[in-house]
Parts: sequence; structure tokens; C-alpha cells
Amino acid sequence: MRDACKEIPDLVQSLAGEMQKLQISQARLEDNVQTLTNRVDNVEIDTRKSIDAYLEVQAQKVEKELNEWLEVKDREISAKIESDVKTVVEQATAAASVARVVESRAADFPVGRHVVGYWGWRDRTVADVGPDAPYFMSPAMLVPDLGELPLSLSLGVLGMPGISAYFGLLEVCKPKEGEVAVVSGAAGAVGSIVGQIARLKWCKVIGFAGSDAKVKWLKEELGFHHAFNYKTNDVTEALKQAAPDGVDVYFDNVGGELSSAVVNSMREWGRISVCGSISGYNESSLPKATIIQPAAIYKQLRMEGFLYSRWHDRWEEGITQLTQWVREGKIKYCETVTEGFQNTPKAFAGMLQGDNLGKAVVKV
Ligand SMILES: NC(=O)c1ccc[n+]([C@@H]2O[C@H](COP(=O)([O-])OP(=O)(O)OC[C@H]3O[C@@H](n4cnc5c(N)ncnc54)[C@H](OP(=O)(O)O)[C@@H]3O)[C@@H](O)[C@H]2O)c1
Repeated sequence: MRDACKEIPDLVQSLAGEMQKLQISQARLEDNVQTLTNRVDNVEIDTRKSIDAYLEVQAQKVEKELNEWLEVKDREISAKIESDVKTVVEQATAAASVARVVESRAADFPVGRHVVGYWGWRDRTVADVGPDAPYFMSPAMLVPDLGELPLSLSLGVLGMPGISAYFGLLEVCKPKEGEVAVVSGAAGAVGSIVGQIARLKWCKVIGFAGSDAKVKWLKEELGFHHAFNYKTNDVTEALKQAAPDGVDVYFDNVGGELSSAVVNSMREWGRISVCGSISGYNESSLPKATIIQPAAIYKQLRMEGFLYSRWHDRWEEGITQLTQWVREGKIKYCETVTEGFQNTPKAFAGMLQGDNLGKAVVKV
């Protein structure tokens, strides 16, 4: 059994190369990479302590949190570095994995079953999965029998992104038949599911994504009523054309100016579900965008952020419904799969550049 944490410095160096291509400040990058490397070198992890299961990672999600850690040095995560080095090493690459249990002393996690958990970028690990085990975001969970469906869907439409889309739309926005629903990051893991659920709830669905190919996919494959490339279209003008009476529901994955334009195009009593703000994840200072308060006041809008973990106790309900819709062909999914654990940084940087259609995963 290898101690997977020792692989992090290599991955971080490789990631640094990829991030340079994204033109992130060199000094900032080097500083953060060095910090992480030093801390990893200084950490001794007793992987044999409170062992409950051995896990072999089979597919891996590419997440943005590592980017946040590298770039957002002064925020919450770096506070955790000071307080608990071990925790942050485990969380620094806070990606989820789906893994097969290869050895276990935990009765609820038998050998051969698959589990999903946040173990970061690693190809195998030893994890405490007991009832009192500490966890990041979500405790390790057994993957239900997916039958013929790919296991990696438990990181996408049948996992955290699916739960975020399902409850984040239905519980926060409560869309009604005939309403206009807009989603940004529409061709991503969460957005592509949000738009399809809104369509199943008989809304008129409008998506914004970053390429013509994505726009085509949203309209021709996923049944979005309208979709626009936000890089080549003026968002306000696009909404005037597609939703002349205004927008009722906005599922926000990106934040920034795009979101200000949508919020300023909303109708009275509109609801906004704030899921992500990826447009600002690479910025060293908070991005500036047109203010939304006048629209919020005069149109009496309601805006609510959420973390998917809010609905942890309703996980089964959400996954059961999503699985049924996938099996019935009512929800389609796409995965952008990168082969090879060593290519994780490349996949991560690609995701930030919008290379992915649907969920970005790494096949370890
Ligand atoms: N609150 C929660 O509990 C929760 C749960 C899951 C995810 N999230 C957040 O929700 C968002 C979507 O997650 P996801 O898994 O669906 O993402 P994803 O599949 O990884 O998609 C990311 C997409 O964001 C788009 N993007 C990148 N930079 C952008 C920019 N500057 N402006 C507009 N779009 C940009 C890119 O597509 P384009 O080609 O369209 O630009 C990229 O493909 C993320 O911000 C994530 O952090 C939050």
C-alpha cells in the first residue's frame, strides 16, 4: 500500500505547468505551490491508524477546490492550513472519487462494494469510514447498484452534481409550469442537469455556455429551448429576444457580469439559486460586476446560496429520481473522460478553460 499523499508534490508541479498556461501570476503560483510542497514534505501520516477500509480509486472527479486553494490564499482554506496541516493535505485536492473497497474492517463497507468520498487526487487510499469518522463535505457513501450504467455517474448526474442540480433547482427556485428558467454554466455537470429538470417541469429553458458546439448540444441533444454562447452574444440582448417578458428562475453557476445581466433581466418575484461562481475562481481580487440590488428591490427577487450537503439526508430520494429519469432517457448525460491518473492536472486546467462537456472525470 503506497502512501498516496507522497504523490501530491508531483501532481502539484504538473498542475503548476498547466496553470501557467492559464496565465496566472507566476509569483503567486510559485508561492502557493512551494507552500503546498513544503507542507506535504513535512507531514507524517499514519495511514494504519483507525483503518476501516482500503480503497482503490477507479474514476476521479476534477474539481475547482484545488484551484481555490492555490489561488485564494487568504481565505478560509488557508486558515485551515495553519490549524490542521494533515487535514489540508487531504483536502487540498478536494476531489471526490469513486472507489472499490479492496480490504475492510468496516461491516457497512464490505470488500467489493464501491464507495464515493472526498479523498483528493490519489489513486488509492486508506480511509476511516466508521460512523464517527471525520469527513470533508460528505461522508463516504456506498454506491447503489447502477446496473448497466457507468460507475463514474456516481460522480456526476447520479452523485453530487446531480443532487446539486435537483435540490438546488427544485427546492430553492421552485419552478412552475410555463415559467422561464435560465442556467449559466449550462453545458457543465450541474448546469446540463438543471436545464433538463427545468424542462421536465415544463419551464421554458434558456442556457448560456462558452462555445457554439456546447450551444448546439444543449439545443439539439438536451432539449433546451434556447441556448447562447456567452462569449459571442450580449447576454441582455439574448434574453430580450428569448424571454421578452423576463426571467422567473435563474440557476447561477458562474457569477460575475453574466449573472448580473441575467438578474437585471428578471421578472417580479423571480428566484435565484446561487450554486457556483466559477468566473471568479481564478481572480486574485474579487471581480467587479454591475450591481443587482435595484433589480432585487424593485422586482422583489429572492436569492439563495446553497451547499449540496444541505440535502444529505434526502440523497437517496434525489438519486432514485435522477436514476429513473436517466433510465427512461428523460435526462441525458455526457462525461469528458481523461485517461490516466498522471493527467489529472491537465484535465483540471482543461475544465477551467471550458474543455469539458458535462462532467469532467479522470479514469485512474
Ligand atoms: N454549491 C454547491 O454545493 C455546488 C455543488 C456543485 C458544484 N458547485 C459549483 O457549481 C459550478 C458548476 O459546477 P460543475 O461541476 O457543473 O462545473 P463543471 O462541469 O466543471 O463546468 C465548469 C464550466 O464552467 C464554465 N466556465 C469556466 N469559466 C467560466 C467563466 N469565467 N464564466 C462562465 N463560465 C465559465 C466552463 O464552461 P464554458 O465553456 O461554458 O465557459 C466550464 O466547462 C461550479 O462553480 C462549482 O464550483 C457548487
